[in-house]
Amino acid sequence: MQRAAVILAAGKGTRMQSETTKVLHKVGGRMMVDWSLNLADQLKCQKRILVIGTHSDDLRQVAMDRVGEAGIAVQDPPMGTGHAVQCAESVLRGFEGMVVILYADTPLLPVSAVEAAFEALEQGGDISVLGFDANEPGGYGRLICNDDGELLEIVEAKDASSEQLAVSFCNSGVMAVRSKELFELLGKVTNANAKGEYYLTDIVALGRERGLKAVAVKCSEEDVLGVNSRVQLAEAEQVFQSQKRKALMESGVTMTDPETVYFSFDTEIGRDVSIEPNVVFGPGVSVEEGVEIRAFCHLEGCRISSGSQIGPFARLRRGADLGKGVRVGNFVEVKNTRMDDGAKANHLAYLGDGKVGARSNIGAGTIFCNYDGYFKHATVLGEDVFVGSNSALVAPLTLGDSSFIGSGSVITDDVPEHALALGRGKQHIIDGWASAYHADMKQKKQNQDK
Ligand code: UD1
Ligand code: MG
Repeated sequence: MQRAAVILAAGKGTRMQSETTKVLHKVGGRMMVDWSLNLADQLKCQKRILVIGTHSDDLRQVAMDRVGEAGIAVQDPPMGTGHAVQCAESVLRGFEGMVVILYADTPLLPVSAVEAAFEALEQGGDISVLGFDANEPGGYGRLICNDDGELLEIVEAKDASSEQLAVSFCNSGVMAVRSKELFELLGKVTNANAKGEYYLTDIVALGRERGLKAVAVKCSEEDVLGVNSRVQLAEAEQVFQSQKRKALMESGVTMTDPETVYFSFDTEIGRDVSIEPNVVFGPGVSVEEGVEIRAFCHLEGCRISSGSQIGPFARLRRGADLGKGVRVGNFVEVKNTRMDDGAKANHLAYLGDGKVGARSNIGAGTIFCNYDGYFKHATVLGEDVFVGSNSALVAPLTLGDSSFIGSGSVITDDVPEHALALGRGKQHIIDGWASAYHADMKQKKQNQDK
């Protein structure tokens, strides 16, 4: 049976205290709305509908990029979760299959939990709801079940009796229903409740009145952690990080102090990579097997091939592309630069917008001067080039294979293969100059002190 996901994102997220719309905040380097869209993809939903409000042009733009006009439903004004789903009806016209309702502020929901909800429909259920045992049930809707585990109704905290409030089995908000029943039941929902809203949750009791079967499927509280505030955003981040660390260690990555290493949603790390403390992986990093990443490195948008050694204190930025057995040492920054196999930049350098051929050695203090204040230019080094310490390579520039740059040079013109280039003042020697200087100065000082 076909699947569709309706993702609710019309809320304002006032408690974030932010100019940025709530679901555009990031967890693990990815916007929360993208987590939900990705989940829908992984669930193989043929249709993905984002329900958005009218308060955020930024969210609208993101929605256009991700699902296009045909996947957007606008809810204006927001009148409750039931109303929000109803707004997706026209967009889903003609769709026959199972619909799952997701919240765009619940980034960590695993595929397996939602699969279980779909499965409950395939096994004879008409409505399935993901529920969890809440540590603090507080404002959550309560799942009221009979002794056979069948779901009778969902009662919102504000409408619940004290007996119902004592129930700790709570509604996550995730619900799967066949489209036909979903929209038929939503048509019957009223706003006669404490909040004066159209509750999606009311379709459970309405369904049962018509002889439909509702079931609650249990998931963990962590799975459905919702983000309403910055504190919860940080909580979600922590959960993501600890899950990712664990998954990577299980796949063969060594971390001396995993709690101090931060990953992104798409970080890829091969077997037998070792990572020392205090390393940050921004989005877009992939690391092949056997790489050693030493303490205090910051990496994003880069690729590191097998057997390389990075850091301590290295920074790899967007487009850093390291071949096998490359070394990037302390206080070296690499951006948009390919380093071929065995190339080395061991200390204090900036390599931007360049290419470093195999086995070339970049001395301490080398700078690729890539920017003239208006445009960026390329620095291209052949194989086996030796760049002496403290050299400024002024791009655009090409250094031929096996060329040699004398220390302290400012190199502005291309250097042919096998040549030596010196771009610095010539050294003069004046014999005895220092002793004559000191004798003269001492005499002057004595005269003055008299
Ligand atoms: C809802 C559930 C509650 C559940 C809780 C889990 C209902 C009536 N209640 O309550 O049972 O325990 O979530 O977190 O469904 N939204 C819209 N349009 C609206 C209202 C909400 O798009 O008009 C979106 C919000 O952006 C959010 C989601 O729906 O993503 C949930 O809305 P929220 O107001 O947080 O619902 P709760 O009161 O928390
Ligand atoms: Mg909520």
